[in-house]
Amino acid sequence: MKNQGIIGICLILTISLKNVVFCLCPIRCQCNEEKLVVMCDGAGLDVVPITLNPDLRELHLARNSIKGIMTAFSVYHSLEYLDMTSNQLVALGRNNFRLQEKLHILLLGHNMISTLYCSTFDGLKGLRILKLTGNFIRELPDGIFVELVSLEVLDLSENSIDTISKDAFVGLGNLKILLLKDNKLGHVPSSSFGTLSHVLSIDLDLNNFPILPEDSFVNLANLEKLSLGSCGIRKIHKSAFKGLKNLLYLILQDNLLDSIPTEAFLYLRKLLELNLGQNYMKAIVSKSFNSLSNIQTITINSAPFLERIESEAFLPNIRLQNIIFNHNKKLSYIDRNAFSSFTLLRAVSLRGNNFQTFSEDVLPWSDLERFDLRDNPLICNCSLSWLLHHLQTRNYSESFDFDLTHIRCENPPVLRDLMLKGLSIDDLRCHEYQTQKILTWSFAAIGILLVALLVAVLWFRQRTVNDLKIKCSTVIPDSRHENRYRMDNQLRGGTSQEREWVVKIGRDPYAGRLV
Ligand SMILES: *[C@@H]1O[C@H](CO)[C@@H](O)[C@H](O)[C@H]1NC(C)=O
Ligand SMILES: *[C@@H]1O[C@H](CO)[C@@H](O)[C@H](O)[C@H]1NC(C)=O
Repeated sequence: MKNQGIIGICLILTISLKNVVFCLCPIRCQCNEEKLVVMCDGAGLDVVPITLNPDLRELHLARNSIKGIMTAFSVYHSLEYLDMTSNQLVALGRNNFRLQEKLHILLLGHNMISTLYCSTFDGLKGLRILKLTGNFIRELPDGIFVELVSLEVLDLSENSIDTISKDAFVGLGNLKILLLKDNKLGHVPSSSFGTLSHVLSIDLDLNNFPILPEDSFVNLANLEKLSLGSCGIRKIHKSAFKGLKNLLYLILQDNLLDSIPTEAFLYLRKLLELNLGQNYMKAIVSKSFNSLSNIQTITINSAPFLERIESEAFLPNIRLQNIIFNHNKKLSYIDRNAFSSFTLLRAVSLRGNNFQTFSEDVLPWSDLERFDLRDNPLICNCSLSWLLHHLQTRNYSESFDFDLTHIRCENPPVLRDLMLKGLSIDDLRCHEYQTQKILTWSFAAIGILLVALLVAVLWFRQRTVNDLKIKCSTVIPDSRHENRYRMDNQLRGGTSQEREWVVKIGRDPYAGRLV
């Protein structure tokens, strides 16, 4: 009654003083009569003000202490935008938005709402964005969004949702983005997704599905982006992604995968970007992304066990443009045949890995616009002279020049923390290396020569002995037998003279080998 009285006064004032549109603008609020916008963010309100212009279009009530809405909005039929983020709303009641057909944006994040009723959102036929982030919602019952036929973005992140009824999303015929991040879902709500075939993006990060069973997303034929980060995924069934024939972006970061789920990728023919960071694989083996014929960007950051990228790992991914493999603390090897020779790689980031050296023939340099090898324990020796040459002569894009300039040496100690780009070829001790190489080769040659000589001598001696044997075969017994006789004598003790000889040899540090 009191409210109606105030509205009455307000109406009278509005009619009598045509210029005073906002009859009672609450303290600490700003009321723009021209734009029909009221800003009451952080104004210390504990109820929704009901004395504002009934034609109000935008109402900003964030960061107040409002506990309920009751019938407050029955006054404002023209409301298009309502922000009640960070208040103390516990419930939204039933039918309280019945008259807000023009409302486009409803922001109710960071309140204490725990229950949604079937009729809570009834009437909001024009609503395009609904944010319920950071509340205490546990369950989405059937039909709660049934009247939200224009809704495009539904944000239910950071709640405690563990149950989504099969028909919870019925009615959301225009939904494009569904955010269910950071809830308590124990499995993918596949049956509830049955009515969402037109949805473009679903975020399921920070839930808990150790296994992705077959047909998990089978009804989401138009989905372009799927985020499954931090979901404790250990195993992906080979038909888990069946039906995702338009998927472009897949995020599987921060899970427990110990190998790349190559078979499951079979259905993702259109995929452009894949993020597999923070998983447990040790190696990227041959043809890991075999069926991803359109893939352009592969990101694997902070995979703690990743050591190697093997031969043909990125075969036949000829459209691959960006490789982002940063902060993999054990990654120290990329096979020189890892990339398909047709690859048009544009950017390669290998920052913060464990590379001590890097071979020039790993990457196709002709098209490369960006290359980052910062924060690796590089040994700046002659093997990196090609990179020094690159850094000093190539013209990379300016923004990327920074990354290149800041490639530093970790070893040898005299070059520690120095930038590779600032070194000269002498610092890399290529001369020393050359000399060493020459010396090594020389020694090898001399060795071979000596061996050849020895063989020749032995052969010559053998021939002489044979010649003698032929000549005196009746007089001298087989020399080999004689040798064995001497050896046996040594081992058993032999004559006293011979024993003395053995004892002498025994003092020799190498005697063990002889005896
Ligand atoms: C440079 O260091 C790397 C890494 O230890 C090593 O594999 C390579 O053989 C070295 N090159 C030369 C020329 O000493
Ligand atoms: C590098 O590129 C800049 C601008 O694109 C150009 O002005 C400069 O001459 C180039 N330098 C070399 C060495 O090609």
